[in-house]
Amino acid sequence: MKTPADLIRREITERGVLPFARFMELALYAPDCGYYETEKNNVGKRGDFYTSVSVGNLFGELLAFQFAEWLETEVSSQKSVARIVEAGAHDGKLAKDILIWLQSNRSELFARLEYIIVEPSARRQVWQNETLKEFAPYVRWFSDFENVKIATQNSKLDGIIFSNELLDAMPVRRFGWDAANKKWFEWGVSIDGEKFIWARMPNPNRDLRFAIPASAELLAVLPDNYTVELSSAAKNWWREAAGVLGNGKLMTMDYGLAADELFSPVRLRGTLRAYFHHRASDDILANVGEQDLTAHVNFPSIRKAGEDAGLITEYFCAQAKFLTEILARAAKNNSFGAWDGSDTRQFQTLTHPEHLGRAFRVLVQSR
Ligand SMILES: C[S@@+](CC[C@H](N)C(=O)[O-])C[C@H]1O[C@@H](n2cnc3c(N)ncnc32)[C@H](O)[C@@H]1O
Repeated sequence: MKTPADLIRREITERGVLPFARFMELALYAPDCGYYETEKNNVGKRGDFYTSVSVGNLFGELLAFQFAEWLETEVSSQKSVARIVEAGAHDGKLAKDILIWLQSNRSELFARLEYIIVEPSARRQVWQNETLKEFAPYVRWFSDFENVKIATQNSKLDGIIFSNELLDAMPVRRFGWDAANKKWFEWGVSIDGEKFIWARMPNPNRDLRFAIPASAELLAVLPDNYTVELSSAAKNWWREAAGVLGNGKLMTMDYGLAADELFSPVRLRGTLRAYFHHRASDDILANVGEQDLTAHVNFPSIRKAGEDAGLITEYFCAQAKFLTEILARAAKNNSFGAWDGSDTRQFQTLTHPEHLGRAFRVLVQSR
């Protein structure tokens, strides 16, 4: 059985130094053997890292409350199908938490709900199918937005399109600043014996300064080897989602940076990290296919992609603020009843600045 390391080694042997984005794509998504293809339990306690979803059911329940508000008051009329589209659904747990809450608390809306999962991997579709068995009549799968468009006969989809920790799991290109030569260079991956090592890509044909949003003043003082990542995969995904959306909301929750954080002195070596058994590491090229790789989302770039596609930015803030505001509205009509210790602990984890409250950002755009 082939491993991602075998596939990467073969590409390096055939093509020379491999762009890091390709390394990341194969390590995480190589069919049948990439990190996200083989292990359903890599998110959560038994895996390598926690997400808001693995903290417990509360995250999905708060989102369900928010989605019901949007669908009932802004997005769909009382009689039409109410659509929620999730991407990056992994094992389907978040979908299940949302559907259970809507079924128990918004029966009229639930009766006209269609929950769509956009999932390119056949294997992950099987995991999601198992988790969502009891909701089978309400859930549909599409492998990508092209197929969503075919199903809607190219008319736009009214509803909510959202993802949690999807964009920060997409492949990134990694660039370093060569201060002596006043040039950006791109990091790639090569081999030294059995090991993968960092290697500079051959000089690019075009000046990378046009691709990387650093001003001339900043470049004059940027330290040697300052590292940044750019993800055209994330930007393209957002652009495509925005293109499919009719009336409604496009929303993501991810680790990410605001405009004034893109070139911070505290991130000299960028934001790319590996997660292996709940430990963050800078050893990105180790444990290929067995550890998660993630980089912070460049929110200004995503935001611009949506605005260029005609969307209006409604909201960009820390997850703590977003969830606290939902809870405050829900409390007015007692939508969550009495809380036990577990709910309180979950809310603290989701909103505490040292846990998931500050580094996670929420972007909501609408049309
Ligand atoms: C970090 S996990 C997050 C899982 C889940 N949303 C959560 O919050 O626990 C990222 C998930 O996005 C999936 N993914 C990556 N690229 C995707 C794409 N283009 N479309 C849909 N899912 C994708 C990965 O396979 C993985 O299941």
